[in-house]
Amino acid sequence: MGLSKNHQCYIAVPSHIVNSHLQNMLSSEKKITPSLSRKFKLLLTNPRFWIFLVFLFGFVGLWLDFLPFSQNPCSISRELFTASEFWKQPDGLGYRPCLNFSETSREILKDKTRYLMVVVSGGMNQQRNQIVDAVVIARILEAALVVPIFQVNPIWADESEFSDIFNLDHFKNVLGNDVRIVSSLPSTHVMTRPVEEKRTPLHSSPQWIRSHYTRKLRRDGVLLLRGLDSRLSKDLPSDLQKLRCKVAFHALRFNPSILELGNKLTERMRSKGPFLALHLRMEKDVWVRTGCLPGLSHEYDEMINNERKRRPDLLTSRSNITYHERKLAGLCPLNALEVTRLIKALGAPKGARIYWAGGTPFGGKETLQPLTKEFPHFYNKEDLALPGELETFSKKASLMAAIDYIVCENSDVFMPSHGGNMGHAIQGHRAYAGHKKTITPNKRQMLPHFLNSSLSESEFNKIILDLHKDSLGQPELRKRGRDVTKYPVPECMCNSTTIHSSM
Ligand SMILES: *[C@@H]1O[C@H](CO)[C@@H](O)[C@H](O)[C@H]1NC(C)=O
Ligand SMILES: *[C@@H]1O[C@H](CO)[C@@H](O)[C@H](O)[C@H]1NC(C)=O
Ligand SMILES: *[C@@H]1O[C@H](CO)[C@@H](O)[C@H](O)[C@H]1NC(C)=O
Ligand SMILES: *[C@@H]1O[C@H](CO)[C@@H](O)[C@H](O)[C@H]1NC(C)=O
Repeated sequence: MGLSKNHQCYIAVPSHIVNSHLQNMLSSEKKITPSLSRKFKLLLTNPRFWIFLVFLFGFVGLWLDFLPFSQNPCSISRELFTASEFWKQPDGLGYRPCLNFSETSREILKDKTRYLMVVVSGGMNQQRNQIVDAVVIARILEAALVVPIFQVNPIWADESEFSDIFNLDHFKNVLGNDVRIVSSLPSTHVMTRPVEEKRTPLHSSPQWIRSHYTRKLRRDGVLLLRGLDSRLSKDLPSDLQKLRCKVAFHALRFNPSILELGNKLTERMRSKGPFLALHLRMEKDVWVRTGCLPGLSHEYDEMINNERKRRPDLLTSRSNITYHERKLAGLCPLNALEVTRLIKALGAPKGARIYWAGGTPFGGKETLQPLTKEFPHFYNKEDLALPGELETFSKKASLMAAIDYIVCENSDVFMPSHGGNMGHAIQGHRAYAGHKKTITPNKRQMLPHFLNSSLSESEFNKIILDLHKDSLGQPELRKRGRDVTKYPVPECMCNSTTIHSSM
Protein backbone atom coordinates (compact mmCIF):
# COMPACT_ATOMS: atom_id res chain seq x y z
CA MET A 1 0.00 0.00 0.00
CA GLY A 2 1.67 3.11 -1.16
CA LEU A 3 -0.03 6.15 0.30
CA SER A 4 2.93 6.83 2.49
CA LYS A 5 5.51 7.89 -0.01
CA ASN A 6 9.21 7.99 0.59
CA HIS A 7 11.34 10.19 -1.53
CA GLN A 8 14.76 9.50 -0.22
CA CYS A 9 16.58 10.09 -3.43
CA TYR A 10 15.92 12.66 -6.05
CA ILE A 11 17.66 14.21 -8.95
CA ALA A 12 19.18 17.47 -7.87
CA VAL A 13 21.08 18.39 -11.01
CA PRO A 14 19.04 20.86 -12.98
CA SER A 15 19.49 20.90 -16.72
CA HIS A 16 19.78 24.09 -18.71
CA ILE A 17 15.99 24.32 -18.82
CA VAL A 18 15.56 24.02 -15.08
CA ASN A 19 16.35 27.35 -13.54
CA SER A 20 17.92 26.97 -10.10
CA HIS A 21 16.45 30.26 -8.96
CA LEU A 22 13.03 28.81 -9.59
CA GLN A 23 13.84 25.62 -7.78
CA ASN A 24 14.81 27.61 -4.71
CA MET A 25 11.56 29.42 -4.94
CA LEU A 26 9.68 26.16 -4.91
CA SER A 27 11.57 24.59 -2.06
CA SER A 28 11.37 27.63 0.21
CA GLU A 29 7.71 26.91 0.94
CA LYS A 30 6.81 25.71 4.40
CA LYS A 31 6.57 21.97 4.85
CA ILE A 32 3.40 20.34 6.09
CA THR A 33 3.54 19.77 9.87
CA PRO A 34 5.29 16.41 10.22
CA SER A 35 3.23 15.08 13.12
CA LEU A 36 0.00 15.81 11.29
CA SER A 37 1.13 14.11 8.13
CA ARG A 38 2.27 11.12 10.18
CA LYS A 39 -1.12 10.79 11.78
CA PHE A 40 -2.72 10.99 8.38
CA LYS A 41 -0.47 8.26 7.06
CA LEU A 42 -1.22 6.09 10.07
CA LEU A 43 -4.90 6.52 9.41
CA LEU A 44 -4.46 5.57 5.81
CA THR A 45 -2.56 2.42 6.64
CA ASN A 46 -5.22 1.38 9.11
CA PRO A 47 -7.34 -1.33 7.43
CA ARG A 48 -10.42 -0.38 9.46
CA PHE A 49 -10.35 3.10 8.03
CA TRP A 50 -10.32 1.66 4.51
CA ILE A 51 -13.10 -0.81 5.21
CA PHE A 52 -15.16 2.12 6.42
CA LEU A 53 -14.35 4.07 3.24
CA VAL A 54 -15.21 1.16 0.96
CA PHE A 55 -18.50 0.84 2.75
CA LEU A 56 -19.22 4.51 2.40
CA PHE A 57 -18.37 4.57 -1.30
CA GLY A 58 -20.57 1.61 -1.94
CA PHE A 59 -23.51 3.73 -0.93
CA VAL A 60 -22.35 6.87 -2.64
CA GLY A 61 -21.73 4.84 -5.80
CA LEU A 62 -25.24 3.43 -5.71
CA TRP A 63 -26.71 6.85 -5.35
CA LEU A 64 -24.63 8.21 -8.23
CA ASP A 65 -25.91 5.51 -10.53
CA PHE A 66 -29.33 7.09 -10.51
CA LEU A 67 -28.16 10.43 -11.72
CA PRO A 68 -28.60 11.11 -15.43
CA PHE A 69 -25.46 11.35 -17.52
CA SER A 70 -25.25 15.08 -17.98
CA GLN A 71 -25.67 15.95 -14.36
CA ASN A 72 -22.55 16.74 -12.49
CA PRO A 73 -22.12 14.33 -9.58
CA CYS A 74 -19.91 16.71 -7.67
CA SER A 75 -22.14 19.75 -7.69
CA ILE A 76 -23.03 19.23 -4.05
CA SER A 77 -19.56 18.89 -2.62
CA ARG A 78 -18.42 21.70 -4.83
CA GLU A 79 -20.60 24.33 -3.23
CA LEU A 80 -18.64 23.95 -0.01
CA PHE A 81 -15.47 25.09 -1.68
CA THR A 82 -16.46 28.10 -3.71
CA ALA A 83 -14.08 30.07 -1.51
CA SER A 84 -11.22 29.08 -3.73
CA GLU A 85 -11.13 30.60 -7.17
CA PHE A 86 -9.17 27.63 -8.47
CA TRP A 87 -12.07 25.23 -8.09
CA LYS A 88 -14.55 27.59 -9.73
CA GLN A 89 -16.10 26.14 -12.85
CA PRO A 90 -16.23 28.06 -16.13
CA ASP A 91 -19.47 29.62 -17.35
CA GLY A 92 -21.02 26.95 -19.57
CA LEU A 93 -23.27 29.57 -21.24
CA GLY A 94 -26.23 27.28 -20.77
CA TYR A 95 -24.99 24.68 -23.23
CA ARG A 96 -26.57 21.25 -22.78
CA PRO A 97 -26.13 18.07 -24.77
CA CYS A 98 -28.58 17.99 -27.65
CA LEU A 99 -28.48 15.04 -29.96
CA ASN A 100 -31.74 15.72 -31.71
CA PHE A 101 -31.29 13.93 -34.99
CA SER A 102 -33.39 15.06 -37.92
CA GLU A 103 -36.44 12.88 -38.59
CA THR A 104 -35.43 11.68 -42.01
CA SER A 105 -32.23 10.00 -40.91
CA ARG A 106 -33.79 7.87 -38.20
CA GLU A 107 -34.42 4.69 -40.10
CA ILE A 108 -32.44 1.70 -38.90
CA LEU A 109 -31.42 -0.46 -41.76
CA LYS A 110 -32.60 -4.01 -41.71
CA ASP A 111 -30.32 -5.06 -44.50
CA LYS A 112 -28.58 -8.31 -43.60
CA THR A 113 -26.30 -8.69 -46.55
CA ARG A 114 -23.55 -6.17 -45.83
CA TYR A 115 -21.04 -6.23 -43.00
CA LEU A 116 -18.26 -3.87 -42.03
CA MET A 117 -15.33 -5.32 -40.07
CA VAL A 118 -12.71 -3.04 -38.55
CA VAL A 119 -9.40 -3.68 -36.86
CA VAL A 120 -8.54 -0.89 -34.44
CA SER A 121 -5.00 -0.24 -33.27
CA GLY A 122 -2.87 1.86 -30.96
CA GLY A 123 -3.49 2.71 -27.33
CA MET A 124 -6.93 2.60 -25.74
CA ASN A 125 -7.80 6.20 -26.56
CA GLN A 126 -6.69 5.86 -30.14
CA GLN A 127 -8.79 2.72 -30.47
CA ARG A 128 -11.71 4.64 -29.03
CA ASN A 129 -11.45 7.28 -31.77
CA GLN A 130 -11.33 4.58 -34.41
CA ILE A 131 -14.43 2.89 -33.02
CA VAL A 132 -16.30 6.19 -33.21
CA ASP A 133 -15.38 6.51 -36.88
CA ALA A 134 -16.15 2.85 -37.58
CA VAL A 135 -19.74 3.30 -36.39
CA VAL A 136 -20.16 6.37 -38.57
CA ILE A 137 -18.68 4.60 -41.60
CA ALA A 138 -21.03 1.65 -41.07
CA ARG A 139 -23.90 4.11 -41.00
CA ILE A 140 -22.68 5.80 -44.18
CA LEU A 141 -22.39 2.44 -45.94
CA GLU A 142 -25.68 1.17 -44.50
CA ALA A 143 -23.86 -1.91 -43.30
CA ALA A 144 -23.99 -3.84 -40.04
CA LEU A 145 -20.90 -3.35 -37.90
CA VAL A 146 -19.13 -6.41 -36.56
CA VAL A 147 -17.81 -5.65 -33.05
CA PRO A 148 -14.40 -4.03 -33.65
CA ILE A 149 -11.36 -6.29 -33.45
CA PHE A 150 -8.50 -5.01 -31.31
CA GLN A 151 -5.06 -5.38 -32.77
CA VAL A 152 -2.46 -6.34 -30.18
CA ASN A 153 -0.02 -3.50 -29.88
CA PRO A 154 3.66 -4.56 -29.86
CA ILE A 155 4.59 -1.88 -27.29
CA TRP A 156 1.94 -2.66 -24.72
CA ALA A 157 1.23 -6.30 -25.64
CA ASP A 158 -2.24 -5.96 -24.22
CA GLU A 159 -4.56 -8.63 -25.58
CA SER A 160 -7.78 -7.09 -24.31
CA GLU A 161 -10.76 -7.33 -26.58
CA PHE A 162 -13.65 -4.96 -27.02
CA SER A 163 -15.71 -6.50 -24.25
CA ASP A 164 -12.76 -6.54 -21.83
CA ILE A 165 -12.69 -2.77 -21.98
CA PHE A 166 -16.15 -1.63 -23.00
CA ASN A 167 -19.64 -2.69 -22.05
CA LEU A 168 -20.76 -4.50 -25.20
CA ASP A 169 -24.47 -4.82 -24.36
CA HIS A 170 -24.65 -1.15 -23.57
CA PHE A 171 -22.87 -0.32 -26.83
CA LYS A 172 -25.36 -2.38 -28.83
CA ASN A 173 -28.39 -1.03 -26.98
CA VAL A 174 -27.48 2.63 -27.22
CA LEU A 175 -26.75 2.38 -30.93
CA GLY A 176 -29.70 0.11 -31.60
CA ASN A 177 -31.48 2.77 -33.63
CA ASP A 178 -28.45 3.90 -35.56
CA VAL A 179 -26.38 0.94 -36.68
CA ARG A 180 -26.92 -2.78 -36.44
CA ILE A 181 -24.07 -4.24 -34.38
CA VAL A 182 -23.32 -7.95 -34.47
CA SER A 183 -20.84 -9.91 -32.37
CA SER A 184 -19.58 -11.95 -35.31
CA LEU A 185 -20.16 -12.48 -38.99
CA PRO A 186 -23.21 -14.65 -39.70
CA SER A 187 -22.53 -18.13 -41.06
CA THR A 188 -23.63 -17.01 -44.52
CA HIS A 189 -20.67 -14.65 -44.61
CA VAL A 190 -17.86 -16.40 -42.76
CA MET A 191 -16.73 -18.25 -45.85
CA THR A 192 -16.34 -15.02 -47.73
CA ARG A 193 -12.78 -13.85 -47.80
CA PRO A 194 -13.02 -10.24 -46.63
CA VAL A 195 -11.65 -7.63 -48.97
CA GLU A 196 -9.18 -5.59 -47.01
CA GLU A 197 -9.23 -1.98 -48.00
CA LYS A 198 -6.07 -0.18 -46.99
CA ARG A 199 -6.14 2.84 -49.16
CA THR A 200 -8.76 5.07 -47.61
CA PRO A 201 -7.24 8.56 -47.99
CA LEU A 202 -7.05 10.91 -45.01
CA HIS A 203 -10.19 12.92 -44.22
CA SER A 204 -12.47 11.14 -46.67
CA SER A 205 -15.95 12.52 -47.10
CA PRO A 206 -19.08 10.35 -46.80
CA GLN A 207 -19.50 10.73 -50.56
CA TRP A 208 -16.01 9.35 -51.16
CA ILE A 209 -16.65 6.41 -48.87
CA ARG A 210 -20.00 5.63 -50.46
CA SER A 211 -18.74 5.85 -54.01
CA HIS A 212 -15.67 3.69 -53.35
CA TYR A 213 -17.01 1.01 -51.09
CA THR A 214 -20.68 0.47 -51.79
CA ARG A 215 -20.15 -1.63 -54.89
CA LYS A 216 -17.50 -3.80 -53.29
CA LEU A 217 -19.65 -4.27 -50.26
CA ARG A 218 -22.65 -5.25 -52.33
CA ARG A 219 -20.56 -7.71 -54.30
CA ASP A 220 -18.58 -9.30 -51.44
CA GLY A 221 -20.88 -8.77 -48.50
CA VAL A 222 -17.97 -7.95 -46.18
CA LEU A 223 -15.59 -5.02 -46.09
CA LEU A 224 -12.54 -5.04 -43.83
CA LEU A 225 -10.93 -1.76 -42.81
CA ARG A 226 -7.89 -1.11 -40.69
CA GLY A 227 -5.73 1.89 -39.92
CA LEU A 228 -8.78 4.09 -39.50
CA ASP A 229 -6.88 6.97 -37.86
CA SER A 230 -8.18 10.22 -39.33
CA ARG A 231 -9.49 8.49 -42.43
CA LEU A 232 -12.94 9.99 -41.99
CA SER A 233 -13.34 13.74 -42.39
CA LYS A 234 -13.89 15.79 -39.24
CA ASP A 235 -16.45 17.88 -41.09
CA LEU A 236 -19.57 15.81 -41.58
CA PRO A 237 -23.28 16.51 -41.99
CA SER A 238 -24.94 17.40 -38.70
CA ASP A 239 -26.58 14.01 -38.10
CA LEU A 240 -23.30 12.16 -38.52
CA GLN A 241 -21.56 14.56 -36.12
CA LYS A 242 -24.27 13.87 -33.58
CA LEU A 243 -23.74 10.17 -34.13
CA ARG A 244 -20.05 10.65 -33.37
CA CYS A 245 -20.96 12.29 -30.08
CA LYS A 246 -23.48 9.59 -29.32
CA VAL A 247 -20.83 6.90 -29.73
CA ALA A 248 -18.12 8.75 -27.82
CA PHE A 249 -20.21 10.08 -24.94
CA HIS A 250 -23.04 7.56 -24.57
CA ALA A 251 -22.36 4.24 -26.29
CA LEU A 252 -18.73 3.69 -25.28
CA ARG A 253 -19.03 2.99 -21.59
CA PHE A 254 -16.29 1.08 -19.81
CA ASN A 255 -17.20 -2.38 -18.67
CA PRO A 256 -18.64 -2.69 -15.15
CA SER A 257 -15.52 -3.94 -13.36
CA ILE A 258 -13.41 -1.07 -14.70
CA LEU A 259 -16.14 1.46 -14.05
CA GLU A 260 -16.52 0.26 -10.50
CA LEU A 261 -12.84 0.61 -9.67
CA GLY A 262 -12.57 3.95 -11.49
CA ASN A 263 -15.50 5.30 -9.51
CA LYS A 264 -14.10 3.99 -6.25
CA LEU A 265 -10.79 5.75 -6.86
CA THR A 266 -12.67 8.92 -7.79
CA GLU A 267 -14.56 8.83 -4.52
CA ARG A 268 -11.37 8.22 -2.56
CA MET A 269 -9.97 11.36 -4.14
CA ARG A 270 -13.11 13.36 -3.56
CA SER A 271 -13.73 12.28 0.02
CA LYS A 272 -11.94 15.35 1.35
CA GLY A 273 -13.09 17.91 -1.17
CA PRO A 274 -12.50 18.77 -4.80
CA PHE A 275 -9.48 17.43 -6.65
CA LEU A 276 -7.31 18.17 -9.64
CA ALA A 277 -6.40 15.46 -12.15
CA LEU A 278 -3.19 15.79 -14.15
CA HIS A 279 -2.40 13.68 -17.16
CA LEU A 280 1.39 13.60 -17.13
CA ARG A 281 3.25 12.56 -20.28
CA MET A 282 6.73 11.92 -19.02
CA GLU A 283 7.33 8.34 -20.08
CA LYS A 284 10.52 7.52 -21.93
CA ASP A 285 8.80 6.85 -25.26
CA VAL A 286 7.08 10.24 -25.13
CA TRP A 287 10.39 12.08 -24.85
CA VAL A 288 11.88 9.99 -27.64
CA ARG A 289 8.93 10.38 -29.99
CA THR A 290 8.45 14.11 -29.51
CA GLY A 291 12.15 14.91 -29.93
CA CYS A 292 12.07 16.60 -26.55
CA LEU A 293 14.24 16.26 -23.45
CA PRO A 294 13.04 15.56 -19.91
CA GLY A 295 15.37 18.25 -18.53
CA LEU A 296 16.33 16.21 -15.48
CA SER A 297 20.08 16.06 -15.85
CA HIS A 298 22.64 15.88 -18.59
CA GLU A 299 22.86 12.13 -18.12
CA TYR A 300 19.17 11.53 -18.64
CA ASP A 301 19.02 13.90 -21.60
CA GLU A 302 21.87 11.94 -23.19
CA MET A 303 20.01 8.67 -22.71
CA ILE A 304 17.07 10.09 -24.64
CA ASN A 305 19.35 11.52 -27.35
CA ASN A 306 21.07 8.16 -27.78
CA GLU A 307 17.80 6.29 -27.99
CA ARG A 308 16.63 8.70 -30.65
CA LYS A 309 19.82 8.19 -32.66
CA ARG A 310 19.33 4.46 -32.42
CA ARG A 311 15.69 4.64 -33.48
CA PRO A 312 15.25 7.71 -35.72
CA ASP A 313 12.03 6.19 -37.03
CA LEU A 314 10.33 6.83 -33.68
CA LEU A 315 10.46 10.59 -34.01
CA THR A 316 7.02 11.88 -34.88
CA SER A 317 7.73 15.57 -34.49
CA ARG A 318 9.32 17.78 -37.16
CA SER A 319 12.93 16.71 -37.37
CA ASN A 320 14.59 19.80 -38.81
CA ILE A 321 14.33 21.92 -35.69
CA THR A 322 16.43 21.75 -32.56
CA TYR A 323 15.21 20.71 -29.17
CA HIS A 324 15.22 24.29 -27.94
CA GLU A 325 13.15 25.55 -30.89
CA ARG A 326 10.75 22.69 -30.40
CA LYS A 327 10.36 23.53 -26.75
CA LEU A 328 9.72 27.21 -27.42
CA ALA A 329 7.24 26.32 -30.15
CA GLY A 330 5.20 24.56 -27.47
CA LEU A 331 5.73 21.13 -28.98
CA CYS A 332 7.18 19.48 -25.88
CA PRO A 333 5.37 17.91 -22.95
CA LEU A 334 5.81 19.88 -19.75
CA ASN A 335 8.16 18.45 -17.16
CA ALA A 336 7.33 18.17 -13.46
CA LEU A 337 8.80 21.53 -12.51
CA GLU A 338 6.92 23.32 -15.27
CA VAL A 339 3.65 21.66 -14.32
CA THR A 340 4.24 22.68 -10.71
CA ARG A 341 4.88 26.31 -11.55
CA LEU A 342 1.95 26.41 -13.94
CA ILE A 343 -0.70 25.07 -11.58
CA LYS A 344 0.69 27.14 -8.74
CA ALA A 345 0.40 30.26 -10.86
CA LEU A 346 -3.14 29.29 -11.77
CA GLY A 347 -4.03 29.27 -8.10
CA ALA A 348 -3.92 25.61 -7.07
CA PRO A 349 -3.74 25.75 -3.27
CA LYS A 350 -0.99 23.90 -1.45
CA GLY A 351 -3.55 21.58 0.11
CA ALA A 352 -5.01 20.68 -3.30
CA ARG A 353 -5.56 16.99 -3.74
CA ILE A 354 -4.04 15.86 -7.00
CA TYR A 355 -4.56 12.66 -8.96
CA TRP A 356 -1.97 12.01 -11.60
CA ALA A 357 -2.64 9.77 -14.59
CA GLY A 358 -0.04 8.28 -16.89
CA GLY A 359 2.76 5.75 -16.86
CA THR A 360 5.91 5.83 -14.75
CA PRO A 361 7.92 8.91 -15.72
CA PHE A 362 11.33 8.47 -17.29
CA GLY A 363 13.80 8.69 -14.41
CA GLY A 364 11.35 7.15 -11.97
CA LYS A 365 8.86 8.64 -9.59
CA GLU A 366 11.61 10.82 -8.11
CA THR A 367 11.26 13.07 -11.11
CA LEU A 368 7.86 14.10 -9.74
CA GLN A 369 9.55 15.62 -6.71
CA PRO A 370 8.86 19.27 -7.63
CA LEU A 371 5.16 18.36 -7.61
CA THR A 372 5.11 16.24 -4.47
CA LYS A 373 7.10 18.84 -2.57
CA GLU A 374 4.71 21.60 -3.48
CA PHE A 375 1.54 19.50 -3.34
CA PRO A 376 1.87 16.78 -0.70
CA HIS A 377 -1.54 15.26 -1.46
CA PHE A 378 -0.40 13.69 -4.69
CA TYR A 379 -1.67 10.25 -5.70
CA ASN A 380 -1.99 7.91 -8.64
CA LYS A 381 -4.05 4.76 -9.04
CA GLU A 382 -1.45 2.56 -7.34
CA ASP A 383 -1.44 4.84 -4.31
CA LEU A 384 -5.21 4.82 -4.00
CA ALA A 385 -6.00 1.18 -4.71
CA LEU A 386 -6.31 -1.28 -1.85
CA PRO A 387 -4.11 -4.36 -1.95
CA GLY A 388 -5.31 -6.63 -4.75
CA GLU A 389 -7.72 -4.15 -6.29
CA LEU A 390 -5.50 -3.39 -9.26
CA GLU A 391 -4.21 -6.93 -9.63
CA THR A 392 -6.43 -8.01 -12.51
CA PHE A 393 -5.74 -4.78 -14.39
CA SER A 394 -2.08 -4.12 -13.80
CA LYS A 395 -0.65 -6.06 -16.73
CA LYS A 396 -3.11 -4.53 -19.17
CA ALA A 397 -2.20 -1.09 -20.44
CA SER A 398 -5.67 -0.48 -21.90
CA LEU A 399 -7.46 -1.23 -18.66
CA MET A 400 -5.06 0.94 -16.68
CA ALA A 401 -5.63 3.75 -19.19
CA ALA A 402 -9.38 3.27 -18.77
CA ILE A 403 -9.11 3.68 -14.99
CA ASP A 404 -7.13 6.89 -15.45
CA TYR A 405 -9.73 8.05 -17.95
CA ILE A 406 -12.57 7.62 -15.48
CA VAL A 407 -10.87 9.46 -12.62
CA CYS A 408 -9.75 12.31 -14.92
CA GLU A 409 -13.18 12.59 -16.48
CA ASN A 410 -14.76 12.88 -13.04
CA SER A 411 -12.26 15.29 -11.52
CA ASP A 412 -13.16 18.86 -10.57
CA VAL A 413 -10.29 20.30 -12.57
CA PHE A 414 -8.34 18.48 -15.27
CA MET A 415 -5.09 19.38 -16.97
CA PRO A 416 -3.05 17.37 -19.50
CA SER A 417 0.67 18.16 -19.62
CA HIS A 418 0.65 17.53 -23.37
CA GLY A 419 -2.07 17.05 -26.00
CA GLY A 420 -2.64 13.53 -27.23
CA ASN A 421 -5.61 11.26 -27.65
CA MET A 422 -6.46 10.89 -23.99
CA GLY A 423 -6.25 14.60 -23.20
CA HIS A 424 -8.44 15.40 -26.20
CA ALA A 425 -11.02 12.74 -25.46
CA ILE A 426 -11.35 13.88 -21.85
CA GLN A 427 -11.53 17.52 -22.85
CA GLY A 428 -14.48 16.76 -25.12
CA HIS A 429 -16.14 14.52 -22.57
CA ARG A 430 -15.91 17.19 -19.87
CA ALA A 431 -17.25 19.83 -22.22
CA TYR A 432 -20.19 17.59 -23.03
CA ALA A 433 -20.80 16.93 -19.33
CA GLY A 434 -21.32 20.67 -18.80
CA HIS A 435 -18.02 22.42 -19.44
CA LYS A 436 -16.18 21.21 -16.40
CA LYS A 437 -12.94 23.07 -15.80
CA THR A 438 -10.20 21.80 -18.11
CA ILE A 439 -6.93 23.69 -18.27
CA THR A 440 -5.18 23.66 -21.63
CA PRO A 441 -1.59 24.81 -21.09
CA ASN A 442 -0.74 27.65 -23.41
CA LYS A 443 2.75 26.30 -23.87
CA ARG A 444 3.98 28.38 -26.74
CA GLN A 445 3.17 31.67 -25.06
CA MET A 446 4.10 30.79 -21.53
CA LEU A 447 7.52 29.19 -22.00
CA PRO A 448 9.54 32.39 -22.55
CA HIS A 449 8.31 33.57 -19.15
CA PHE A 450 9.41 30.30 -17.55
CA LEU A 451 12.94 31.05 -18.70
CA ASN A 452 12.98 34.67 -17.57
CA SER A 453 14.77 34.65 -14.23
CA SER A 454 14.29 38.37 -13.65
CA LEU A 455 10.54 37.96 -13.18
CA SER A 456 9.39 37.93 -9.58
CA GLU A 457 7.08 35.14 -8.55
CA SER A 458 4.05 37.39 -8.37
CA GLU A 459 4.77 38.93 -11.78
CA PHE A 460 5.21 35.49 -13.22
CA ASN A 461 1.98 34.23 -11.68
CA LYS A 462 0.01 37.17 -12.98
CA ILE A 463 1.32 36.73 -16.53
CA ILE A 464 0.57 33.00 -16.50
CA LEU A 465 -2.92 33.54 -15.09
CA ASP A 466 -3.66 36.12 -17.79
CA LEU A 467 -2.44 33.80 -20.51
CA HIS A 468 -4.90 31.12 -19.41
CA LYS A 469 -8.04 33.19 -18.90
CA ASP A 470 -9.64 31.66 -21.96
CA SER A 471 -8.10 28.18 -21.67
CA LEU A 472 -10.10 26.88 -18.76
CA GLY A 473 -12.67 24.81 -20.60
CA GLN A 474 -15.19 27.50 -21.51
CA PRO A 475 -17.52 26.65 -24.43
CA GLU A 476 -15.58 26.91 -27.63
CA LEU A 477 -17.12 26.57 -31.06
CA ARG A 478 -15.71 23.77 -33.15
CA LYS A 479 -13.72 25.12 -36.04
CA ARG A 480 -13.51 23.40 -39.40
CA GLY A 481 -11.21 20.40 -39.35
CA ARG A 482 -11.51 19.94 -35.60
CA ASP A 483 -13.01 16.89 -33.98
CA VAL A 484 -16.54 17.25 -32.69
CA THR A 485 -15.75 14.82 -29.88
CA LYS A 486 -13.20 17.36 -28.66
CA TYR A 487 -15.34 20.44 -29.37
CA PRO A 488 -18.99 19.31 -29.07
CA VAL A 489 -20.40 22.84 -29.55
CA PRO A 490 -22.36 23.56 -31.71
CA GLU A 491 -23.27 20.20 -33.30
CA CYS A 492 -23.81 18.19 -30.12
CA MET A 493 -24.70 20.88 -27.62
CA CYS A 494 -27.07 23.80 -27.75
CA ASN A 495 -28.35 26.56 -25.51
CA SER A 496 -31.61 28.43 -25.72
CA THR A 497 -30.21 31.02 -28.09
CA THR A 498 -28.33 28.85 -30.53
CA ILE A 499 -29.80 28.60 -33.95
CA HIS A 500 -29.01 25.32 -35.54
CA SER A 501 -28.02 25.09 -39.10
CA SER A 502 -27.73 21.72 -40.71
CA MET A 503 -24.45 21.46 -42.51
C1 LIG B 1 -25.78 30.75 -25.63
O1 LIG B 1 -24.47 30.75 -26.17
C2 LIG B 1 -24.05 31.99 -26.75
C3 LIG B 1 -22.67 31.81 -27.30
O2 LIG B 1 -22.66 30.85 -28.29
C4 LIG B 1 -24.08 33.08 -25.71
O3 LIG B 1 -23.74 34.29 -26.31
C5 LIG B 1 -25.45 33.16 -25.09
O4 LIG B 1 -25.45 34.09 -24.03
C6 LIG B 1 -25.89 31.82 -24.53
N1 LIG B 1 -27.28 31.87 -24.07
C7 LIG B 1 -27.64 31.62 -22.83
C8 LIG B 1 -29.09 31.72 -22.54
O5 LIG B 1 -26.85 31.31 -21.96
C1 LIG C 1 -32.22 20.60 -32.44
O1 LIG C 1 -32.59 21.42 -31.35
C2 LIG C 1 -32.28 22.79 -31.55
C3 LIG C 1 -32.53 23.57 -30.28
O2 LIG C 1 -33.48 22.97 -29.46
C4 LIG C 1 -33.09 23.32 -32.72
O3 LIG C 1 -32.81 24.68 -32.95
C5 LIG C 1 -32.72 22.52 -33.97
O4 LIG C 1 -33.50 22.90 -35.06
C6 LIG C 1 -32.91 21.02 -33.72
N1 LIG C 1 -32.33 20.31 -34.84
C7 LIG C 1 -32.96 19.34 -35.48
C8 LIG C 1 -32.21 18.71 -36.58
O5 LIG C 1 -34.09 18.99 -35.18
C1 LIG D 1 11.39 22.75 -41.23
O1 LIG D 1 10.67 22.16 -42.28
C2 LIG D 1 9.38 22.74 -42.48
C3 LIG D 1 8.64 21.95 -43.54
O2 LIG D 1 9.42 20.94 -44.06
C4 LIG D 1 9.56 24.20 -42.90
O3 LIG D 1 8.30 24.79 -43.11
C5 LIG D 1 10.30 24.94 -41.80
O4 LIG D 1 10.53 26.27 -42.18
C6 LIG D 1 11.62 24.24 -41.48
N1 LIG D 1 12.21 24.89 -40.29
C7 LIG D 1 13.50 25.19 -40.19
C8 LIG D 1 13.91 25.85 -38.90
O5 LIG D 1 14.31 24.94 -41.04
C1 LIG E 1 11.97 39.34 -18.27
O1 LIG E 1 11.16 40.03 -17.36
C2 LIG E 1 11.51 41.37 -17.17
C3 LIG E 1 10.67 41.93 -16.02
O2 LIG E 1 9.31 41.91 -16.32
C4 LIG E 1 11.28 42.11 -18.50
O3 LIG E 1 11.62 43.47 -18.35
C5 LIG E 1 12.14 41.46 -19.57
O4 LIG E 1 11.86 42.07 -20.82
C6 LIG E 1 11.87 39.98 -19.65
N1 LIG E 1 12.83 39.35 -20.53
C7 LIG E 1 12.46 38.60 -21.56
C8 LIG E 1 13.59 38.01 -22.36
O5 LIG E 1 11.30 38.40 -21.85
